[in-house]
Amino acid sequence: MALNAFGIDLGTNNIKIYDRNEDKVVIEKNMIAVENKNTLFAYGNSAFEMYEKAPKNIEISYPLSCGVIADIKKMETIIKFFIADMQKGSLRPANFYVAVPTDVTEVEKRAFYDLVRDAGVKARKIMVVEKAVADALGQDVDVKNSQGVIVVNVGYETTEISILSLGGIVLSRLIKVGGQKFDEAIRNAVRKEFNLIIGGKTAENIKMNLKNLEEKEEGAVVYGRDIVRGLPVERTIPTDLVSDALEEHFRTIVDNVKLTLERTPPELAADIYRKGIYLSGGASQVNHLAEKLEKGTGLKVNRAEEPIASVALGLAKIIKEDNYKTVAYAIEGMSR
Ligand SMILES: Nc1ncnc2c1ncn2[C@@H]1O[C@H](COP(=O)(O)OP(=O)(O)OP(=O)(O)O)[C@@H](O)[C@H]1O
Ligand SMILES: [Mg+2]
Repeated sequence: MALNAFGIDLGTNNIKIYDRNEDKVVIEKNMIAVENKNTLFAYGNSAFEMYEKAPKNIEISYPLSCGVIADIKKMETIIKFFIADMQKGSLRPANFYVAVPTDVTEVEKRAFYDLVRDAGVKARKIMVVEKAVADALGQDVDVKNSQGVIVVNVGYETTEISILSLGGIVLSRLIKVGGQKFDEAIRNAVRKEFNLIIGGKTAENIKMNLKNLEEKEEGAVVYGRDIVRGLPVERTIPTDLVSDALEEHFRTIVDNVKLTLERTPPELAADIYRKGIYLSGGASQVNHLAEKLEKGTGLKVNRAEEPIASVALGLAKIIKEDNYKTVAYAIEGMSR
């Protein structure tokens, strides 16, 4: 049997791992729960379940911040356990393909490589792929032959806007707007308008249900704490309040996409104009964002079929098809 291979997209909110043997992508929360400062208590979705509910001696955190590794030890632990789960006891080494953000420092990029090397997984080969290149591949764009592709990935803490040509990155811009900012905007609006404090998960649910609620012409029924009386109450939040709260962040994304397009070499414009924008990332699904982007830029917007998994699906393509192997590279001086 050939060596197994894994494709890893470490998101601030979700970790996505493609497993060649099973030919599928596993998506879990990128979270870890540690008990009494040193004992692993839970990781992934089960850590997220406890989030905002756990007792004080259990600390739950995201080891990534804005797409870069903030807590190396915790991130290594999560990788080690997920890969061990997926290896199902096999001790054979595997090849690893790791997606890295473009618009970060070389040191931050190298940290993704070091992470897999030091995670205690048996790695035969560790290769790195620019996130946006994998993202486009995962959306069936033939990146190697296209001269001009724009990918906009709206994640949890960041939105990455990238211009690609012939399998490489020409231009990229990372802005600190994403799903978390959307949730925060909803929480702030509800607090201001209704004197009501709601939890992060409640705000996230409203955001994810926005389209549904608007179609049914219903408000979002929420439970929270009244600021004045300090007691738990139920309220119905109108969807107008929610979409108005999101407006400012949508504008920031649209403005930054326009700015990136303005800086794109004119030789690439024809292809971009023909194909339009490739939109991915979990938070890109929020209602009205795609249409705002379409209106603001005048370009067609192609929405990813699997917005959360698209980067990992691109890594899968690189792993499965030799033709795409050239877009993966070893970090200099560290390949083996
Ligand atoms: N149906 C939906 N509608 C709106 N937002 C959604 C939906 N499903 C997921 N999200 C949001 O997507 C975000 C997570 O997306 P994703 O997994 O792409 O981020 P990430 O890769 O972990 O983050 P980053 O790329 O910033 O490191 C969360 O903020 C989540 O609330
Ligand atoms: Mg991401």
